[in-house]
Amino acid sequence: MMLQNDLLLRAARGEQVERVPVWMMRQAGRILAEYRAVREKAGSFIQLATTPELAAEVTIQPVDLLGVDAAIIFSDILVVPEAMGLPYEMVEQRGPVFPQTVRTMKDLDSLHIADAEQDLGYVLEAIRIVKRDLQNRVPLIGFAGAPFTIFCYMTEGKGSKTFSVAKKLLYTDPAFAHTLLQKITDSTIAYLKAQVTAGANLIQIFDSWAGILSPEQYQTFSLPYIKQICDALVEAHGIEIPVTVFAKGAFFARQEIGTLSCSVVGLDWNMDPTESRQLIPDKTLQGNLDPCVLYSSFEQIRSEVRNMIDKFGKQRYIANLGHGVYPDTNPDKVRCFIEAVKEYGQV
Ligand code: CP3
Repeated sequence: MMLQNDLLLRAARGEQVERVPVWMMRQAGRILAEYRAVREKAGSFIQLATTPELAAEVTIQPVDLLGVDAAIIFSDILVVPEAMGLPYEMVEQRGPVFPQTVRTMKDLDSLHIADAEQDLGYVLEAIRIVKRDLQNRVPLIGFAGAPFTIFCYMTEGKGSKTFSVAKKLLYTDPAFAHTLLQKITDSTIAYLKAQVTAGANLIQIFDSWAGILSPEQYQTFSLPYIKQICDALVEAHGIEIPVTVFAKGAFFARQEIGTLSCSVVGLDWNMDPTESRQLIPDKTLQGNLDPCVLYSSFEQIRSEVRNMIDKFGKQRYIANLGHGVYPDTNPDKVRCFIEAVKEYGQV
């Protein structure tokens, strides 16, 4: 099955491209009125995410409405804890909440290693529908949270600025932390392999809370588990299915991330492109425009995009924001960002 537009996959594999590919983290979401309409129809975020036909519909919207070079499956990183036996709620204006948390060895008894087909079949079904309806126009990105980021939500029970409950456990009960991290890892490997079998063309791992750890803690509690996931995927599928590691805030770990078996490293706006190329010489880089640039004028957006591409270069590069797009961003500014990459990113 030949993709009509495989720029993202070629850039990820380190092959030559005739133009820089572009997509946006959190592109399937609240910036689009068309998304809000489908979410309204579904009734809630969780209803939308667990109804494969609707999840597929909002996955494809940004391809049609924004002109991005990839779709990303509409879901959430928190479906993995739910599949392990820890359900979440999405509270309006507040974000995710886990009514129960996991903080002791005893709490682990109620968790199991997720079975992808049985516990996450609705995501796999959404992937199959997207593949059918996309008709090979662009690749589909599958994803999961990194084990450490999932650990943060499962132990803390909600979002936090510091995740001090989660971090406390790293100091007070490291054996518990490693046992839970391994269970999350085993669940995530099964889930991501199943996403690829269902049709995902590239996998991104989001370590959204990497930046709260010290370099030593990152080495101990995050990297080894991301390494297991990368190695398992590369062993099962080769570089035909590239893996992207995005560790928000982990500027201090770029060199080590560069030694993983992933093909792409995602960067946030705190990480300088030139310095990152030196630290990660033989992988494709993705990023890293500050999402707040999209609040500026059309002219400023174009100028920031040119500046970014000049720094990264046009090969081994995937244009993106440095984190997810903010929900109150004007879709016309998003289209300006995408058009600017397509224009200025021509080789
Ligand atoms: O377009 C895409 O990128 C695909 C969909 C996607 C969602 N969540 C949908 C969503 C992806 C890739 C995610 C990943 C995710 N979820 C991460 C990692 C990426 C990151 O931003 O760091 C994290 C940390 C979460 C957890 C999460 N989910 C939070 C903290 C929140 C509330 C805050 C927020 O951003 O809304 C969510 C809810 C969520 N996930 C929404 C969407 C579209 C909004 C819910 C709604 O529509 O009401």
